[in-house]
Amino acid sequence: MFTTEAIMQMALDLAGMREIPGDSAIYYPGQEIKKVLFGIDISTAELALAKQLGYDAVIAHHPPQTQAIPAWKVYLRHIDLLVQAGVPREAAEAAVGPRAESMAAGFQSANHDHYPSIARLLDMPFLNIHCPLDELGRRIMQQCVDNCLAANSCATLGDVVDALNALPEFKSATTKIQIAMGDAKAPAGRVVVAHGALTNGGYAVANAYFEHGLPTVLYIHIPYPDLQRLRTEAKGQLLISGHISSDLVGINPFVQKLRVSGIEVTTISGIR
Ligand SMILES: [Fe+2]
Ligand SMILES: [Fe+2]
Repeated sequence: MFTTEAIMQMALDLAGMREIPGDSAIYYPGQEIKKVLFGIDISTAELALAKQLGYDAVIAHHPPQTQAIPAWKVYLRHIDLLVQAGVPREAAEAAVGPRAESMAAGFQSANHDHYPSIARLLDMPFLNIHCPLDELGRRIMQQCVDNCLAANSCATLGDVVDALNALPEFKSATTKIQIAMGDAKAPAGRVVVAHGALTNGGYAVANAYFEHGLPTVLYIHIPYPDLQRLRTEAKGQLLISGHISSDLVGINPFVQKLRVSGIEVTTISGIR
């Protein structure tokens, strides 16, 4: 039997995090949980379904769509990733700040009690765990890429894609890893997996990597206008690994951990 707090702590432990990040939250706490419904996207309909089907709690990956939590704070993690990769802090902050500010404006407009009110009414414990699982997935993907580059310093973009495709989540994915900018036969050079910071960094973050000597960026997805702009400027190479398959790289080990702990997990909405 677990509490919602214990379930959240399991995810924090997997990612080596001490605090619940801004894009993850317990909306309605619960105890004595042994049977959970876990999906990437959960709406109030799935909360009602969980009640109908007799679950003890519901876990979502993505934050609920009401921006009721300060998710934008997690976007600032792009600054840390940029700085770790060698981009000067000032340039990193300039690449991330404006979009973080626009996201923060959304927090002001949110209906903060929408999800908690429905969960309370249904008496259905509900939480979402986003950044800890994406951070776990980022580390697994970065390790996979680094191993490929360590084994062959002349590894091409195609070799990097092949290495990632060996991960089970990509092997069985509906989407394919795309070389969105660059040639499969071109040397990959250093590859930064820019994931685990709420969402992709769009044009500005990829551009900052390219302008500071990082030849290859991996995003799990990107808005098409940002891709077009990056392609027009052609300063670097870009891999797009696919949203849901990449999310699963971090989600699947957590599902396994829940099950090993004795929790019965039913997976829906993208998790198999
Ligand atoms: Fe996602
Ligand atoms: Fe994710």
